[in-house]
Amino acid sequence: MQKILVTGGCGYIGSHTIVDLIENGYDVISIDNNSRSNPEIMQGIAAITGKSIKNYKVDLCNFEETQAVFQENTDIDGVIHFAAFKAVGESVENPLLYFNNNIVSLINIVKCCDIFSVPHFVFSSSCTVYGNPDESPVTENTQLKKATSPYGYTKQVGEEIVEQSAAAGIFNATLLRYFNPVGAHPKGHIGELPIGKPANLVPAITQTAIGKLPQMQVFGNDYPTKDGSCVRDYIHVCDIAHAHTLALHRLSKNKQEEACEVFNLGSGNGYTVFEVIDTFEKISQTKLNFSVAARRPGDVITIFANNEKAQEKLSWHPRFNLEEMMQTAWNWEKQLDNLK
Ligand code: WQD
Repeated sequence: MQKILVTGGCGYIGSHTIVDLIENGYDVISIDNNSRSNPEIMQGIAAITGKSIKNYKVDLCNFEETQAVFQENTDIDGVIHFAAFKAVGESVENPLLYFNNNIVSLINIVKCCDIFSVPHFVFSSSCTVYGNPDESPVTENTQLKKATSPYGYTKQVGEEIVEQSAAAGIFNATLLRYFNPVGAHPKGHIGELPIGKPANLVPAITQTAIGKLPQMQVFGNDYPTKDGSCVRDYIHVCDIAHAHTLALHRLSKNKQEEACEVFNLGSGNGYTVFEVIDTFEKISQTKLNFSVAARRPGDVITIFANNEKAQEKLSWHPRFNLEEMMQTAWNWEKQLDNLK
């Protein structure tokens, strides 16, 4: 059985990916210092899979502590690196926090892969590396533009570090560019746990609907789009998770065609903010309390994916539609409310 180290395993995408890996026969360990995540998520993983996963509460910026995990687990066949700060707005206010955390932690984990000869590496990247694209859908060959935030820049630099490390023969690597991950596991038990006021659209919607927030704001309705609000490619977190299992499978069978391959993980559909709100109101049978506010600095107007490469090379086929994304997000919010 192949053993996979997941960094950020207590996080939103990390926890869903651990569930998918276990369901596909992998042995998993996690490193997560819980600075932005809740260790109790491991109980949710156990509730779904029946497996309890060991999490090493280690700061990846501490090389010695990170190396000690590899010394204790010399049989790691692959690493999936999620651990990073990811709030666009916070990164604008505090760029050095993002440069230090996101880049030093990546360098440390790559150094350990080199020292301990870990053959396969999957990097959590983001559509934010495209900046504000001239047109959508974007393919993996779309020219990367200047990142619109320090967070986005750390993902551009991170991709380069992984690509050059793979070219140097440290490992074979896959870069996965997520579009907008939303929703929660259909079985419940795990989902998004924003810390403080949610920055992202879907948790802002569900927290407003459940009454945790008094009202949500739509950041701009005067964009050059069909209804004036921004367009994004929303993709279910379980579809994102399964892509990681497929990427590891491709690497372990040495099917990759380059030392470092890159894939867009999006549904291929673009939806406006108002379309997402309308869909939520339809599935929840509730009226959402929102108002229109000023545009949010750094927002991209329109971006959605051409996902044909992932469909063909990874045999990845997204399963969830927008209604199911919103339904699972809403079910999770209601479950959290019941736990109070
Ligand atoms: C989506 C749309 C907002 C909140 C970011 C990162 C990306 C990825 C996903 C990590 C925008 C609007 C939002 C609200 C709103 N993160 N919105 N009111 O900015 O597309 O992507 O998160 O990988 O890398 O860049 O996601 O959900 O914040 O915004 O109107 O209360 O919803 O203006 O148009 P975003 P988002």
